[in-house]
Parts: sequence; structure tokens; C-alpha cells
Amino acid sequence: MSEPFDRGGTGSSKWARAGAGRIALGLADMDLPGPPAIGAALAARASHPAYGYTVADPGGRALVADWYRRRHGVAVDPDWVLLLPFGPRTALRLLLSAAGTAGPDRPVAAADPEWGGFTALCAAAGLPLRRVPLVREGEAYRLPLADFAALRPGVLLLSSPHNPSGRLWTADEVRALAGLAAEGGGLLVSDEVHGDLVHPDHGQRHPVAVAVAGPAAGHTVTLGSVGKTFNTSGIPSCWALVPDAPLRGRLLAEMAGYGLWEGGLLEQVVQRAALTDGEAWLDGTLRHLAAARDEAIAALGPAVVVRPQASYLLWLDAAALGLPPERARETAMTERDVELSDGADFGPAGRGGLRLNYALPLPVLRTALQRLTRT
Ligand SMILES: Cc1ncc(COP(=O)(O)O)c(C=O)c1O
Repeated sequence: MSEPFDRGGTGSSKWARAGAGRIALGLADMDLPGPPAIGAALAARASHPAYGYTVADPGGRALVADWYRRRHGVAVDPDWVLLLPFGPRTALRLLLSAAGTAGPDRPVAAADPEWGGFTALCAAAGLPLRRVPLVREGEAYRLPLADFAALRPGVLLLSSPHNPSGRLWTADEVRALAGLAAEGGGLLVSDEVHGDLVHPDHGQRHPVAVAVAGPAAGHTVTLGSVGKTFNTSGIPSCWALVPDAPLRGRLLAEMAGYGLWEGGLLEQVVQRAALTDGEAWLDGTLRHLAAARDEAIAALGPAVVVRPQASYLLWLDAAALGLPPERARETAMTERDVELSDGADFGPAGRGGLRLNYALPLPVLRTALQRLTRT
């Protein structure tokens, strides 16, 4: 994956946001061509001119369950799977309403720093969000479980693997959070849309929440998607693993209120092609991401806050790059011709940080790293 990949003329949000002349290292999608099987499946489906209302892929639930068995070695009951014809952000918003477990006295809890979308989603749902600062231990972050427990949250929102740092949580940590949610009659929503992107060169597995939660599994929702894994976020889709049947019913009812039902036309075609024929491509991409990660860490040295184990995100300390912490993103854009995500978007603890996306062909990444480190 050293070939240039020209996204010109495709309306890429990531490059539009960066602006002309800059290298885009911000938004979380990959500058790598996706699996050929997806394009072929879309072209085959498009060649039939029937584009009317479409049922959910009848084999879709089994396909997802089989994916978890093959890729993660865990058993998922196909009945838990909801096939959602919208992206993870929409799924999270609908889940916050359907859960009904958070409210004025039972906040939503999330880590700090944490994926910024949670803040906007809680605000849109009219729910209070309380942040729990993560503990940094060496090159890793740890979840401060007692601090989460003290909040008595109605919903716990977790990105797992962690966005922005690319860190894998341990199975013990996720199990403890699920237990904590269960004790208070709440819900752990584990947003695992980066969970298939675990780097191949270390021993840890991604802890699928519903599989590691043990007796608390009924108090979890695990969110997965082909969007990040196969770089198909422009055709929104995701799935939710919801073992609690009443919650499944409430989520479907919430969806119906917006004219949304399981399944759809294009995203089911994409999902089937990716999960059926995308594995060889994914394994190659993961090797590429591990190599790109190593180059980025070698170039950025002490600016790297946490060593990633998954996905393509690197969490950086702007000051260590000689950038002014309060204006790091703007300065990197105007003086170094690269665009990154602003750490402040990930919560108060993210101020002075930057998130870099290293899913690029290596020659482009090298140029970007040279630009970012020039002083
Ligand atoms: C952890 C996490 N959850 C949810 C989303 C939202 O994805 P989308 O905007 O495609 O729905 C993202 C996107 O970056 C993400 O990183």
C-alpha cells in the first residue's frame, strides 16, 4: 500500500476540511483503496434497475455472528443482531433514547479524553454527560473504575478500542464496567466501530463487550460496523448486538418513529461483500497500519502520548511538537501544511492534544511527518 491513492473528485470530507495544499490527517477514514469485492458487489447490484424498498438481508444476522466467531473467537447469538441502515452516530443517539436508563439523576458517563461525538449526542438527547479523566500509566491509559462507579451512571459510553488513542481496553476493565452498569440497572454501550482494526503484532485481543461481560451481558450493547474496518463510511451502516429483547424492541420502535427499519439497499450489499470477501484485504491493511504506526511513532517520539494497539489514530502532545497548545491545529495548518483533529474536541483532558490519522500510503505519510516535525 505504497501506491498514491487519488481521492480527487470524490467529495472526500477529510480532504475538504484540510483545504488545498495541506495533507489531511484529521477525520477518521483511510486513504487506502478498499476491498475490490465491495465495488464489484455494488456494480453488480446497480446493474439491476430495481431500487425499491428492500428487506434486510435475510442472512445478515448470521453473517455478523459468523464474523465475530472467525475474527474475534466469540459466540454471538444471531437474534441479538440488529442490522442498522445508518451510521454509528445515529445508532448511539437512538440508543440513548431507547435505553431510558439515563436522566437528570442518572447521568451518562464517558471517559476524558473520549470520542467527541458523545458530547453532541448527549446534548441532542437532553442528557447530562459526566466525564471521568483517564489515568495514564506509562504508554497506556487505564479506566478509573471507582470514579465511574461513583457517578451511578444510567448509561456508560465507551469507545473500545479507544478513540483518540487507539488503545485496547482489557477484558477485565470492560467486564467491570458492564458489572457496574448492571448493578445500578444501567447500560454499557460499547462503541466498537474500530474493533476489527486490531494490529497483528501484539498479543492482546479486542474485548467484545457482550462476550466478556459475563452475567452482566444483558446490560450491554455492542456496536460494530464495516464503516471504519473497510472504509465505507460514505454508505452509512452499522449493527448493534443487543441481548436484552425488550431493549431491542424499544430501539426498533424508536427507529420506526423516524421511518427507519432494519436493512436497506446499498449498505446491505456493502456489508455482505465486506464480511464475506474482505478478510484478505483486511489482513493486508492491518499489516500496513502497523508499519505506518511504527514510522509515525519513530518520527514523532516523545510527542506520542499513548502507544496504539488498534485502528489508525495517534494521540499527540502538541507542545512536544513545538506547537502552541491552545492553537495547535490552526498553527499546524498555517505553518506546517497538515491538518489534524483538535484535542479539545475530545473533552477537557484533550486540550493541548492533537489526533493524527496515519492511514495513508507510506510516501504520503512520510511527507506529512516531515512537515509536522519541521520547526
Ligand atoms: C468511536 C466512533 N464512534 C462513532 C463514530 C461515528 O461514525 P459515523 O459518523 O460514521 O456515524 C466514529 C467516527 O469517527 C467513531 O470514531
